[in-house]
Amino acid sequence: MTKFTVNNQPVEYRMDPATPLLFALRDASNLTGAKYGCGTGHCGACVVHVDDVARKACQIAIGSIEGSFVTTIEGLSHDRSHPIQAAFLAENVSQCGFCIPGMVMAAAALLKSSPRPSEDQIRAGITNICRCGVYPRLVEAIQRAGRIQRGDEQVASPRPGVDPADAARIVPALTPAP
Ligand code: FES
Ligand code: FES
Repeated sequence: MTKFTVNNQPVEYRMDPATPLLFALRDASNLTGAKYGCGTGHCGACVVHVDDVARKACQIAIGSIEGSFVTTIEGLSHDRSHPIQAAFLAENVSQCGFCIPGMVMAAAALLKSSPRPSEDQIRAGITNICRCGVYPRLVEAIQRAGRIQRGDEQVASPRPGVDPADAARIVPALTPAP
């Protein structure tokens, strides 16, 4: 059994300690935001935060992060109000959307360490692969998120068509600790 915290809830996985974190999150906790892309640590579709650091969940055995604090895209904010989420919506970054949860988590970590990132810092720091090629909008969105975070720009509202009640929905399906 492996115990750690996911999105502020204590969880206990009764799985092989060698199980990749991505599979534990998706299959046992029904947190399907992090995606399985390559499974080899190259694409970044599976990025989550482990102790506030962006990590590729397909490359982490759950047994190696006992006692850690994991945050997934579902736990980044309860209402999509994180500056990165607001800016991604405002800049219409997403195309097919498959890479976006990993992109958002990588970008949120970058913004935390570099509140005013240059284009070069963003291109060097975000190595996630997007088959749709959203990279120009990604750069714009991360810089806009920086302005939102610094208070230099008003937080963007969800796009028309996004029901705020739906946006605030919290995914509850974690395995509770006894
Ligand atoms: Fe983890 Fe591609 S699925 S890096
Ligand atoms: Fe389609 Fe990135 S938006 S893979």
